[in-house]
Amino acid sequence: MIARRLPAAGRDLLGERFELDEGELGLDREELLRRVRGAAALVADPTVPVDAELLDAAGPTLRIAANFAVGYDNIDLDECRKRGVVVTNTPDVLTNATAELAVTLMLAAARRVGEAERVVRAGRWAGWDPAGLLGRELSGATVGIVGLGRIGTRVAELIQCFGPELLYTSRTTRSETIWAEWRLGLERVGLDELVARSDFVTLHVQLTLETRHLVDEELLARFKAGAVLVNTSRGEVVDEDALVSALTTGALRAAALDVFAREPPVGSPLLELPNVVLSPHIAGMTADSVRELTRQALTSVVDVLAGRAAVGVVNPDALAHPRQRGQE
Ligand code: GLV
Repeated sequence: MIARRLPAAGRDLLGERFELDEGELGLDREELLRRVRGAAALVADPTVPVDAELLDAAGPTLRIAANFAVGYDNIDLDECRKRGVVVTNTPDVLTNATAELAVTLMLAAARRVGEAERVVRAGRWAGWDPAGLLGRELSGATVGIVGLGRIGTRVAELIQCFGPELLYTSRTTRSETIWAEWRLGLERVGLDELVARSDFVTLHVQLTLETRHLVDEELLARFKAGAVLVNTSRGEVVDEDALVSALTTGALRAAALDVFAREPPVGSPLLELPNVVLSPHIAGMTADSVRELTRQALTSVVDVLAGRAAVGVVNPDALAHPRQRGQE
């Protein structure tokens, strides 16, 4: 069962082997609950909550929930574990694409590209003005990277050439983190220090119970005056009401957001603020990354259903569940 829609290559890869039921971008939840019954595999994405209700609707035939994304906060891992449903994501295929968009948004906010474009389009540009729409440069600025996983590390690599001072926070100390710190000349600090010192703060954490509203009113009050916040992770990592206040009072100079607490953010006050650059959750979406995403997500389906080792298994415990051997 494809909860939403697959690129054609994915349809071919799965269609050669399995009977496919493919939903559509706006597939209604009730319809999905009805159509998922009896599926061996469910291909979901961040917009599809994979919870007890959906798992029960699928029934005991379901062996894999393959998320067509690197983030899997839409999936209730506990409920999948109980039922022996293997969950997969697509690590690394979106790393560069996401990091490039984070840098794009950072520069767009720094140089006020959104505001500038609106001025030109509206015919409000009266001519070259040395005092108009002054931005700031990354060169010499301090950039704080919250979360030094694959994407955070790639952001650090990409912005090296602008010459900022780079700070980061990380919950874990992995060898890759230490290596990146040394290789890229990063300074590890706590979150409070990072926001107090950074001119640009970019978020690269997973959404979990601990990171929900990580950027809240209290943390925003600690940000350096006039800082810019960039979010390409998940909307709920930021308390949007608190963000709107900080942007309205000018405590924050700007925000650049690819993700929102509710997507699409219809009616959000963020849409009315001039100092916000917005994009519609496209960070991971390039022609190359989506091709790889498709290949990886669907190869995991084929592998898990064939009982082979699969890439991107998030809950390896489930592989040992009797359901995986058809013994449930
Ligand atoms: C996109 O948001 C992803 O998690 O891959």
